[in-house]
Amino acid sequence: MFKKLILTSAAVMAISVPTAQASEGTGVHEIIDVPFSFKGPFGTYDKAALQRGLMVYRQVCSACHSLKRVAYRNLEEIGYTPEQVKTIAGEYTIMDGPNDEGEMFERPARPADRFKSPFANDKAATAANGGALPPDLSLITKARHDGADYVYSILTGYAEAPHGMVIAEGKHYNKAMDGNVIAMPPPLSDGAVAYEDGTPQIVSQYAKDVATFLTWAAEPELEHRKQMGVKVVLFLSIFAVIMYAVKRQIWKKVH
Ligand code: HEC
Repeated sequence: MFKKLILTSAAVMAISVPTAQASEGTGVHEIIDVPFSFKGPFGTYDKAALQRGLMVYRQVCSACHSLKRVAYRNLEEIGYTPEQVKTIAGEYTIMDGPNDEGEMFERPARPADRFKSPFANDKAATAANGGALPPDLSLITKARHDGADYVYSILTGYAEAPHGMVIAEGKHYNKAMDGNVIAMPPPLSDGAVAYEDGTPQIVSQYAKDVATFLTWAAEPELEHRKQMGVKVVLFLSIFAVIMYAVKRQIWKKVH
C-alpha cells in the first residue's frame, strides 16, 4: 500500500518535471521554463527589465498589438517620474471628441489616456495582418497557459519547418504555437532595439524583457500579492507556536 503510494507520486513527479513538453498530435509544443525574477513565492519585478520591455513593446510589438488596459500613468509603477510619463504620452497623437461642434479631433495623449492602439478596430487589424487578428496584449500572460514562458517561447520559437511540412503563404513555423503555424512574422531580430544600459541586444533578451513587461501589464499587483502571502504564512507560523504554548499551559494541570 505504502510502496504503491510512493511509486505513484514518483511517477507523477517524473511527468511534471520536464520543461519542454510535447503535446498530443503532430509536432512539438515547446515551452521554455525561463528563470524570471518574478517567479516563486518571493518573486519581484526587475525594474530595469520592465523598462527595457516597455522599449521593446513600443518599438516593435505596438505596430500590431494594442495594450488597451494600460494607461500611460501606470508607467509610474515601473519607475518613471510623472514628468517622464507626460513626455512618453505626449509622443502619441490620439483621437478625442466630439467637441462642441460635434467633431472628433486629434490631440497629444495625456498620462490618463490608455496606450494608443495601432488600428482603429479589430476588423482593420485583421485586414492589415493577412486575416489574423493580433490579440490585445494587456492580459496575454494570464490568458495563455504558461503565461510569460509562453510569450517568451513564441518569440524565440521560430525555426525552419521540419522536412515535408508545408507552410502556407504568410504563415510561419513556430515551435511554441499550437499546431506550429503562426501568422505573426518573426517580430524580433538581434540589434533591433537599442538598449542604453549595456544589456545584450539579442532576441532571447528582448523576449525575456518584453515578457516581463507584459506580465506586469497583466498583473501589476503581483509583488504585493506575493508579499502578502509570505506575511500570512509567517503570521500563521508564529500563531501556531503561540497556540501550541497555550495548549501546553492549559493541559499541564490535567496531566
Ligand atoms: C507585424 C505585426 C506584428 C508584430 C510586429 C508583432 N505581432 Fe504578435 N501577432 C501578430 C499576429 C497577426 C498574431 C496572430 C497570430 C495567429 O493567430 O496566428 C500575433 C500573435 C501574437 C501572440 C499570440 C499567440 C497566441 O497564442 O495566439 C503573442 C503572444 C504575440 N503575438 C506577441 C507579440 C510580441 C510580444 C510582439 C513584440 C515583440 C509582437 N507580437 C509583434 C502580429 C504581430
